[in-house]
Amino acid sequence: MAHQVITIAQQKGGAGKTTLAVHLATALMQRGQRVALVDIDPQGSLTMWHKIRGERFGEEYTGFAFSQVSGWRVGSEVSRLRRSHDIIVVDSPPHVETEARTAIRNADLVLIPVQPSPTDIWATRPTVELAKSERIAVRTVFNRVNANSRLAAQMRGELTDLAKSTLGNRVLFASSLLEGKGVTEVLPSSPAALEIKALAKEVTAILQAAQVDAPVAESFHFTKSLEMV
Ligand SMILES: Nc1ncnc2c1ncn2[C@@H]1O[C@H](COP(=O)(O)OP(=O)(O)OP(=O)(O)O)[C@@H](O)[C@H]1O
Ligand SMILES: [Mg+2]
Repeated sequence: MAHQVITIAQQKGGAGKTTLAVHLATALMQRGQRVALVDIDPQGSLTMWHKIRGERFGEEYTGFAFSQVSGWRVGSEVSRLRRSHDIIVVDSPPHVETEARTAIRNADLVLIPVQPSPTDIWATRPTVELAKSERIAVRTVFNRVNANSRLAAQMRGELTDLAKSTLGNRVLFASSLLEGKGVTEVLPSSPAALEIKALAKEVTAILQAAQVDAPVAESFHFTKSLEMV
């Protein structure tokens, strides 16, 4: 697989964008992908996590390329990182403002974390619609789901483009950030880690399918050059 961009977006604040970015990026890295992280949220939560990680492992040994850029620069930053990475994970700010829109337009896959409440679900609509209008693959990711929650079961039916993998409401998703780690590094067999590993596998398959569907200029040239041999 080559250089694809996952933008994590959701106009609702606190839905779990940064949490999803951290744990998914770590799980993808552990699957052998060269992962770059881009934080375009001025709150800088992902940047903070990466800083703690750098202090713990050494700045050169976090396992990720990392950039904090303002949203209007996301296109050029992603183009630069595409050359040397398999997957670029972009964490975006709440509200579908110009900057988050630019990040969505630069994506191959948009992931929208959504908590099981009507207001969260209604807030996903503009992001889903924008991704679809740009013909970008999009999945909503049900997050902070409590086991046996009747509301969650009811809300599930309201969500479109739902990823099969769901993330539970688990303390480890929050506490591992304090260690500059992902859940798959802290407790690889924990329910939280198993959920993220399942999502990483699902996301990998979606990206592969998106690559097959996309009219990639490179493969056209490759076919052409084979014809000429
Ligand atoms: N699956 C989960 N289980 C437990 N806590 C979670 C989970 N997902 C997110 N949280 C907690 O919810 C809060 C908000 O999460 P997070 O900061 O990732 O949201 P966000 O969408 O990035 O917020 P913002 O819009 O402000 O950037 C944090 O305290 C985080 O630890
Ligand atoms: Mg955030």
